[in-house]
Amino acid sequence: MENNKQFPYKFEELDLEEKADIARSYGVPKDFISVGPKKYKLLRPYCDEAANIYNMPVRSDDTFVMTYQRSGTTWAQELIWLIANDLDFAKAKALTLTERYTFIELFMFFNKKWQEDFMNNVEDKEKGLVVIDKVGKPVTDKLLLRPSPRFIKTHLPLSLLPPSLLDTSKVVYVARDPRDVAVSSFHHSRLFKVLDFPNPFKEFWNLFIRDLFTLTPIFEHVKEAWEMRHHPNMLFLFYEELSKDLPATIQKIADFLGKEVSPVQIPALCDHLSIENFKNNQSVNFEDVREFGLLATEEKFIRTGKAGGWRDYFDEEMTQQAEQWIADNLRDTDLRYPSM
Ligand code: A3P
Repeated sequence: MENNKQFPYKFEELDLEEKADIARSYGVPKDFISVGPKKYKLLRPYCDEAANIYNMPVRSDDTFVMTYQRSGTTWAQELIWLIANDLDFAKAKALTLTERYTFIELFMFFNKKWQEDFMNNVEDKEKGLVVIDKVGKPVTDKLLLRPSPRFIKTHLPLSLLPPSLLDTSKVVYVARDPRDVAVSSFHHSRLFKVLDFPNPFKEFWNLFIRDLFTLTPIFEHVKEAWEMRHHPNMLFLFYEELSKDLPATIQKIADFLGKEVSPVQIPALCDHLSIENFKNNQSVNFEDVREFGLLATEEKFIRTGKAGGWRDYFDEEMTQQAEQWIADNLRDTDLRYPSM
């Protein structure tokens, strides 16, 4: 795709001290770049694709599931897809979520160097090329070919997506207590080889609250969506809402998508969406990527699924730091989390 398209934001290098802190915590340098006035941290391969993403054609029957990562994306994806597809459990079982949804910025995690190393080390070269094609290639061209209705997953904030998005497509945004997001992101960063975080949680937390982790600053990300929560094409949800009252959330999503879910169907759907069933559901649990050598540990993508689990990870100092951080970031907004 040609790259003479408009992209309104500047890319900036992180400063030397930030780069050094990231390299120290990860044990190796990480190729973050800061994007736009909110200074979102993206990985460098994103830069070449930013304009294509910003200008990609969106359709009136597209459904976007948008989150800051580890906020309940997978849970919401399965729920939304099932409601949109008249609870077709058989199809949901036959096709993984990765096949049902296009993940816009996935490619940025797998840079050229990673792809070369992966191909040098993989025994089955043909399979290796399939993996590279699945995870390492930008998707805006592929999206053009995808038949409607399309289901799209992204952790990009609204401002990095097409300006016409909300006036055209449906967007479900899921937010979660950022302390739980931090803990979950820490585990996620140990699980995936390409992320590879080697140090204890406290080190991770120190990067996270200084906005030195992928797609931070998290509060800016959430606030962008929160500000648009009354737009008729935006449904803003909290992970904690799904946890507390899944049947009510199912109804909300069905109303938003203009679909019917009868009261008798709700228990079966809730059962399908339970954390225990998710752990064993090969369509959603990402265990299929294990055979490609992308995972580093025995940990699982679908983990505890608890709201408030952060308490087991935070010492007194971190708890206070978090309170201050949250207060500072909520001061200029009416955004309030159910868990705070
Ligand atoms: P934890 O690591 O806190 O357990 P994402 O899909 O955005 O990456 O979010 C992953 C988080 O959602 C993980 O949180 C995961 O366990 C949780 N999750 C996934 N499926 C869930 C389910 N069916 N019920 C509750 N939580 C779920």
